[in-house]
Amino acid sequence: MRRVKSVRQILLCGGVASLWLISAAGVAVAADDSAPAASAPNSVQAALALGAKATQDLQDEKKKKEEEERLKGFGSDWQSWEPDNSVADIASLQRGLRDYAGYCRGCHSLKYMRYSRLAQDLQIPADQLQQYVLPAGAKASDYVTSPMPAADALTWFGKEPPDLSLMARARGTDYIYRLFTTYYSDPSKATGANNLQLPSVAMPAVLSTLEGVKAAVFKDGAFDHFVQVSPGALSHEEYLATVRDLVNFLDYVGEPAQVQRRSLGVKVVLFLLAFTALTYLLKREYWKNIH
Ligand code: HEC
Repeated sequence: MRRVKSVRQILLCGGVASLWLISAAGVAVAADDSAPAASAPNSVQAALALGAKATQDLQDEKKKKEEEERLKGFGSDWQSWEPDNSVADIASLQRGLRDYAGYCRGCHSLKYMRYSRLAQDLQIPADQLQQYVLPAGAKASDYVTSPMPAADALTWFGKEPPDLSLMARARGTDYIYRLFTTYYSDPSKATGANNLQLPSVAMPAVLSTLEGVKAAVFKDGAFDHFVQVSPGALSHEEYLATVRDLVNFLDYVGEPAQVQRRSLGVKVVLFLLAFTALTYLLKREYWKNIH
């Protein structure tokens, strides 16, 4: 998804750049065409004024849209929300680990992952691992387990919280991102919360202190939009960034080799580029006296 998107972005940038070039050329041609020399500056001015007006109109349009958006709430496009995360972003992975330990480990294990591997891949020094990540009494070589006894979870939630090691691969990163961005208050549920991505979810809204509380407005039985009922500790943007970090962390956990593979990939490409340059120089050297 992310790669497709960046290709799209490049195409878009290219498109915008060429439009700009064409319109710039258009202005130049318009200026040239006007035969009487005296009127040339006028037509340039007219073109500029037109441009300025178009920009102003666009801005007004954007403001109007934003205001409409604010009034009608948000979330009608939730099915297209994406985390846009990157496992190459080590700082994001570190924050994701911190939040997993703070908000998820109480219920969810990562049974295929050892703390020592996390420390190595996420570049966490041993003393910080000890101080901030390892639960009391755990060793770096331990697997990441949850203190929640399965039987208790069953009684409390009616469902066992699944292990999250392979969750990002099983469900996809978009899914987990939407799961944590589409909670809404629903007093008819035991947990007081419901979810668009996973209707009647058994997991409580564990991040609501950060996100605040949203209400969902339905029209003709179908979801229409969210309204923020009360704010959380984070702004909307900060909250989205937090969920992105968590999703990023789970993406890495699902396939830890990604981190190494990507950095290796970059090195290989750099090597090939350098090697191509060298080969070219060598070719020039060999053919120097042959013409
Ligand atoms: C209070 C216990 C609890 C905490 C804390 C918790 N979860 Fe859950 N989680 C559950 C339960 C119970 C389920 C099973 C929900 C269901 O199937 O309805 C679940 C399910 C999930 C699922 C799978 C959803 C699916 O489609 O089956 C994901 C992903 C998940 N949790 C991620 C997280 C993350 C990330 C955190 C930390 C931000 C977290 N959970 C914190 C209890 C918890």
